[in-house]
Amino acid sequence: EKGGYEHFMLKEIHEQPNAIRDTYRGRLLAKEGIIRMAGIDDNIEKFLNANRIIIVACGTSWHAGLVAEYIFEDLARIPVEVEYASEFRYRNPVITEKDVVIAISQSGETADTLAAIKLAKSKGAFVFGVCNVVGSTIARETNAGAYTHAGPEIGVASTKAFTTQITVLTLIALKLAKANGSMSNSVFHHHLQELELIPEKVKEALKADEHIKKVAEIYKDAKNCLYLGRGYNFPVALEGALKLKEISYIHAEGYPAAEMKHGPIALIDEQMPVFVIATKKGHYEKVVSNIQEIKSRSGKIIGIVTTGDVDVKNVADHVIEVPETIESLTPLLTTIPLQLLSYHIAVMLEKNVDQPRNLAKSVTVE
Ligand code: M6R
Repeated sequence: EKGGYEHFMLKEIHEQPNAIRDTYRGRLLAKEGIIRMAGIDDNIEKFLNANRIIIVACGTSWHAGLVAEYIFEDLARIPVEVEYASEFRYRNPVITEKDVVIAISQSGETADTLAAIKLAKSKGAFVFGVCNVVGSTIARETNAGAYTHAGPEIGVASTKAFTTQITVLTLIALKLAKANGSMSNSVFHHHLQELELIPEKVKEALKADEHIKKVAEIYKDAKNCLYLGRGYNFPVALEGALKLKEISYIHAEGYPAAEMKHGPIALIDEQMPVFVIATKKGHYEKVVSNIQEIKSRSGKIIGIVTTGDVDVKNVADHVIEVPETIESLTPLLTTIPLQLLSYHIAVMLEKNVDQPRNLAKSVTVE
């Protein structure tokens, strides 16, 4: 059932090219320049008249929500708030009938996310679900929704659920951007074409596996790791750190790269690997100067870079390449090496990769 892979997590990482394709199959019609999603089409007025979108989720799904905040605001010019479901539900939040709430959940059973949905519905908000498990409680409780169609995710560490959630949210943002006029036809077409190329590029990114294994071998005994990214890749840094923590039990933190100088830079020494997402699109020069600051404090740098990169390669201790794409789609590629890295480190440390201690696949208690 693991399809020849040693662990479900590795199988699911490698399933991502197909999973992403399954997510947009029948929805993304690049040649025609159409995105078809019944859950959005049937409720388009709700979205177009919304004052803002509030995204509620937990864990990795919350990270997908953060990526979506960049996508929705940048492409569709709709204000977005991203909330931990557990905080939102107990905060007496201000919710109105003009709010659209998007709940993201792989399992569709997360207790806090479900409670957040019920609260939002009771205040009259329109609630849209992005779930993977068909027929799950959250899928049933929401007013409308879109499935990720990633197929079953067994490994406790979420991998393909994350990239397919981002894919669905990208489709929604593009659809709204087109509908509300914040994106021109030609830019829209370009995005659709680029999205269609993503599965092949994920495949390409997966080819770095052997190289990533060597990097994992070098840093597997680290006690602390830092993950940095900016813009669209700041949430990817958070997700990279979560993945390492939950399966290898190594302490890791994700930060927006520029926040480093407001505290975490004090931690940097030769014992501290810093994984920096530094793709060509998106604040590249600024990230390169962040990297130089780390280097001058003897930090060890592993750069996640665009294929053919030179500047980061010159300063970093190691680089891992991912293919080039448009900025908004980079998270779908930069996530891949960070998943593989966590996986290999956990295997080398002989941890239970698919069922890490103290964790459950779906958190049905608050
Ligand atoms: O099923 P959900 O997406 O609602 O689950 C949310 C989190 O519990 C989940 O993403 C968790 O953080 C994963 N173990 C992360 O890999």
